Amino acid sequence: MLSGISKKAADLDFAIQSLKEELQAVDDYNQRAEMAVDPELKEIMLHNRNEEMEHAAMIVEWIRRNQLEFGGEIEDYLFTQGKIIGVEAQLMGRVSGGEDKPTEKASSLSLNIGSLK
Ligand SMILES: [Fe+2]
Repeated sequence: MLSGISKKAADLDFAIQSLKEELQAVDDYNQRAEMAVDPELKEIMLHNRNEEMEHAAMIVEWIRRNQLEFGGEIEDYLFTQGKIIGVEAQLMGRVSGGEDKPTEKASSLSLNIGSLK
C-alpha cells in the first residue's frame, strides 16, 4: 500500500487485497478437491472452497456499496442474461445526448434481474 493515501483508499486496498486472497483460496481448494484421492478430504476441500466463495462474495458486496464506480459496473453486468460482451453495447445503445451511460439503464436492467431471482 502506498503511504499517505486516504482512509477510504486504504479500506479499498484492504478489500481488494482480501478479494485477491479469497479468489486464490477458491482456486487452490478447487484444484486440491479435484486432485484429492481420499473422498473425505475431497469433500472438505470442496466445503472450504465454497466458504472462500462466500468470503469473496461478501467483499464484492462491500466494494459495490463503497466504491461507486466499481459498484456501477457490478450493477451493470451482474445477473444479466445473454452475451456478456453484449451488455456494454446494450447499455451504450440507450445513450442519448452524448452521455456515457443512460441514467435509467441500471434500473431497467434491474427490473429484468429481479424477476429472475
Ligand atoms: Fe476466506
